[in-house]
Amino acid sequence: MKIAFFSSKSYDQEYFNKVNDNFGHTLSFFETRLNSRTVSLAKDHDAICAFVNDKINDHTLREMKNEGINALALRCAGFNNVDLNAAEKYGIKVMRVPAYSPQAVAEHALALILTLNRKTHKAYNRVREGNFSLERLTGFNLSNKTIGVIGTGAIGRAFIHLVKGFNAKIVAYDPYPNEMLKKQGVEYLSLNDLLSRSDVTSLHCPLTHDTFHIINKQSLQNIKEGAMLINTSRGKLIDTDAVIDSLKEKRLGYLGIDVYAEEEKLFFKDLSEMIIDDDKIARLMQFPNVLVTAHQGFLTREALEQIASTTLQNLTDFENGVINENHVSARNVKTA
Ligand code: NAI
Repeated sequence: MKIAFFSSKSYDQEYFNKVNDNFGHTLSFFETRLNSRTVSLAKDHDAICAFVNDKINDHTLREMKNEGINALALRCAGFNNVDLNAAEKYGIKVMRVPAYSPQAVAEHALALILTLNRKTHKAYNRVREGNFSLERLTGFNLSNKTIGVIGTGAIGRAFIHLVKGFNAKIVAYDPYPNEMLKKQGVEYLSLNDLLSRSDVTSLHCPLTHDTFHIINKQSLQNIKEGAMLINTSRGKLIDTDAVIDSLKEKRLGYLGIDVYAEEEKLFFKDLSEMIIDDDKIARLMQFPNVLVTAHQGFLTREALEQIASTTLQNLTDFENGVINENHVSARNVKTA
């Protein structure tokens, strides 16, 4: 198949080219984002491969259809950026990579927690400048703390497995509780109870109508004072204005985010010589107790290999007329 990649980076090219030795597709890589105007780059291709911030709305899908392209392979787990109803209307099959190394994202969530808590990012800079002072570097033990997990799917479970090692109490919120986790001592609570009891809350649910702004002004009023909030899932799970207010009020104690509501304009680009035209992220980055990474939770060698092989297998299956379990449609999306 001839596959056009959008939003591609050097690491996509490296891993897809390597894994494609086993598949034999023809790959074209475009750095530009996918939208209704850029679809035409995929002219003469059989499929499009897209990523998290590509805008795949009705207009984009209609243009794909006009180019005769019937397959959209997402090289990610989330599919909130695709209008699935429109895909169905135009007969375009959408495939994703539901679970590639959930450990990669879980381990990144843990990295955010440990960095924010023990301030290793600040210590690194201090020591390089000959400042060996420990003032203002005090953290807290995770041992015997309560860690709240919102969404106990593949990544949430991998995260729980990791934080269990800290001898922490684990509580969870998910409309579909996991019986195995319950047997292992994970206590499922209401969202408000989880927020009020947890010293650290980590978001691992998808972005749906039900989870949009699941962390908002009202839920932040319930959050334990001084608690840490971690989001490695999707930016719009959090109402950014409400979180900024809560940080200013010193209610929320720490914020670690790998995703941001308006990340399409910023993430995956080098803007170091530019004026950042987003006052909210500028405000967030100014807090000493906020850590922002630019959607790198998936970025491990193991995850990149798995993403490439599942994506190419999805397209090989499509080519052979097989609709495999990685197909997503408006009908098979599970929402709360
Ligand atoms: P999953 O589908 O295995 O698990 C999601 C869980 O969330 C399920 O147990 C589901 O029941 C639960 N859930 C659904 N609605 C909920 C609600 N209203 N409240 C609480 N929980 C709810 O998905 P997986 O693989 O664990 O991924 C989770 C999310 O992580 C993805 O949707 C994606 O947005 C994000 N992600 C981020 C990456 C990064 O690089 N930062 C990479 C990969 C995924």
